[in-house]
Amino acid sequence: MGEIPAIETERLTKSFGATRALSGLDLTVQQGGILGLLGPNGAGKTTAVRVLATLLLPDSGHARVLGADVVRRADDVRRRIGLTGQYAALDDYLTGLANLVMIGRLARLTRPQARRRADELLGRFELTEAAGRAVKTYSGGMRRRLDLAASLIGRPEVLFLDEPTTGLDPHSRAVMWEIIRELAAEGTTLLLTTQYLDEADQLASQVAVIDTGRVIAEGTPDQLKAKAGEDRIAVRLAPGSDLPAAVTVVQAETTGRVETDPGQLLITAPIPAREGITTDVVRALDTAGIRVSDVTLRRPSLDDVFLILTGHGAGPGPAPAGSGAAPEAGAGPGAGAGQGAAAGQGAGAGLGAGAGQQGGAAA
Ligand SMILES: Nc1ncnc2c1ncn2[C@@H]1O[C@H](COP(=O)(O)OP(=O)(O)O)[C@@H](O)[C@H]1O
Ligand SMILES: [Mg+2]
Repeated sequence: MGEIPAIETERLTKSFGATRALSGLDLTVQQGGILGLLGPNGAGKTTAVRVLATLLLPDSGHARVLGADVVRRADDVRRRIGLTGQYAALDDYLTGLANLVMIGRLARLTRPQARRRADELLGRFELTEAAGRAVKTYSGGMRRRLDLAASLIGRPEVLFLDEPTTGLDPHSRAVMWEIIRELAAEGTTLLLTTQYLDEADQLASQVAVIDTGRVIAEGTPDQLKAKAGEDRIAVRLAPGSDLPAAVTVVQAETTGRVETDPGQLLITAPIPAREGITTDVVRALDTAGIRVSDVTLRRPSLDDVFLILTGHGAGPGPAPAGSGAAPEAGAGPGAGAGQGAAAGQGAGAGLGAGAGQQGGAAA
């Protein structure tokens, strides 16, 4: 507490011609933890990251990383951050090892130091076996891990991850999540942009939802979900059950108005957010001699929040125009982002499109 924020932006603006990518972005991220920057395609997430990583000059406003202004003290900032992009900074024709050593050398490590750090990171990200292969033979998941490894060469205190799992298969995604959690546990501050709301839910300690270049909501995932309504339980009774008796039981265990659908023998009610509530309801019904055929929990998801806030889903839409040709403000090697070729990253993978989390719970 009381320490310098890891990341701060004040009324940050940036336009590309007539497009206002950032229109007064205000963000504060304390040291440690993971900020999930959520927003639909074109919201300004990548632009914000690029400004913070000193790759792009803002038009107005201020941005600081660990207290250092990203414009006036860009070199200091670069030394302390890492960045993994939607566009990998890797050389396809070099091996994984050669890529990391090169990046280490650019970060001013001696050759033996660079080699040692590369070996360490390749081991950590389960790439040792593939270390001697050209990166062009890597799978998407391996490439993404190597990209992340590259961003860690200089032991950054603040790490920017721009859509680190977009397009990855579920296994690779799980591996990335694990690595991200480990980094946070080690004290690295992470800013993660994502279009996957479940990813923010799983990883982020704090979420900022942005749309049209400004923050439209902030809080913990739970605080945001609370805006989308309450948790509800739905209990379906076994055929022939006594519905009014069951309603009385459910009423006693839950917190608000109980609703019924007699035709379906279905009871729904808001529930307090506490562990074991489902079991308690089912047990109480059982004790009263009422048989239950199905119980489900309906929790508002970040998708619901998103829809309410923005009026549309967060799903990947068409690729943003011209995102490959940004005027750059001197990309430093310290930032771990070189002039990489676009790492063909199909906008494929959808967004848990409006699928409310159905936590099925059997008795
Ligand atoms: N280099 C650029 N040239 C022109 N327009 C750009 C450029 N980069 C981003 N934009 C535009 O700025 C807006 C924000 O883009 P971006 O920051 O990439 O959003 P996000 O990462 O949230 O999808 C979009 O309308 C996008 O088309
Ligand atoms: Mg982006």
